[in-house]
Amino acid sequence: MFRSDLLSGKRILITGGGTGIGLSIGRRYLSLGAELVICGRREQVLAEAAEALTKETGGKVSFKPCDMRDAAQVDDLLNWAWSEGGLDGLVNNAAGNFIAQSESLSPRAVDAVLGIVLHGSAYATLGCGKRWLAQGRKGNVLSIITTYAWTGSAYVVPSAMAKAGVLAMIRSLAVEWGGRGVRLNAIAPGPFPTAGAWERLVPKPEMAAAFEAKNPLKRAGRHEELANLASFLMADETAYINGEVVTIDGGEWLQGAGQFNFIGGMMSEADWQALKPKK
Ligand code: HXC
Repeated sequence: MFRSDLLSGKRILITGGGTGIGLSIGRRYLSLGAELVICGRREQVLAEAAEALTKETGGKVSFKPCDMRDAAQVDDLLNWAWSEGGLDGLVNNAAGNFIAQSESLSPRAVDAVLGIVLHGSAYATLGCGKRWLAQGRKGNVLSIITTYAWTGSAYVVPSAMAKAGVLAMIRSLAVEWGGRGVRLNAIAPGPFPTAGAWERLVPKPEMAAAFEAKNPLKRAGRHEELANLASFLMADETAYINGEVVTIDGGEWLQGAGQFNFIGGMMSEADWQALKPKK
């Protein structure tokens, strides 16, 4: 789909890059010539991911443990990244989420999700942004959000609040920083199964089946599809896209939104024919 050197010369940090969607995006970035920096909470997971990615792609991967909730740790991470050559791109991918009845959430449960998603993305984005602006270096920020950033969603309320905040952040900064060489966009994925997220969000097989059944395309997303979109938005060739959110969900959220979308399964061919005007 892309030139094999599409991202060469770029050093890109993917938060939560040791597992799941972050790992898939990193694999694709490396195959397109980027150098990768990944962070996450577990050093062992990062080390194993870095080794596997290097073996697979021959690309350069460095890593550092970091809890995105901790501003001092994020600052240390960025100081280290800049001491090793700086960054050209940031992917705000690290997330925390679980399904719960909202009335049962403790303050610490709310803080855990908002801390990782909203505060962590803000610390990383503002930290990279101030370094890029001071240096006059171009920067590109991509944030992984969700479609319920604008629809809201029951049972994942802190996540919806946090992702909505990240969307507001990138739209605001796209205007404030765009003219100074720093652009920001977001991707809103539908269901892209990963071990970590599905354990917390999709605990029953019938829920996984329902995700597929309610999707107009009747399937979940494939990681390569998301990684291709993330590569497209990270490339210099799409430099005029700024402050945008691109949905990749097979049409899932629109399926839930359109007032008459539900009737397809209720109408037989004979029903449709009976509705036609008589000639
Ligand atoms: C209610 C819960 C809970 C649950 C944790 N808590 N899980 N409350 N229901 N299922 C509460 C705890 O009781 C505690 O509050 C507080 O949250 C912090 O929990 P800890 O386990 O101490 O925190 P920690 O180990 O740091 O875990 C953070 C986490 C966890 C967010 C809770 O889920 C996590 O680390 N997730 C990271 C990976 C992840 O979730 N990725 C998926 C993102 S997918 P108290 O008061 O008891 O101390 C995504 C996209 C969605 O976001 C789109 C899909 C279609």
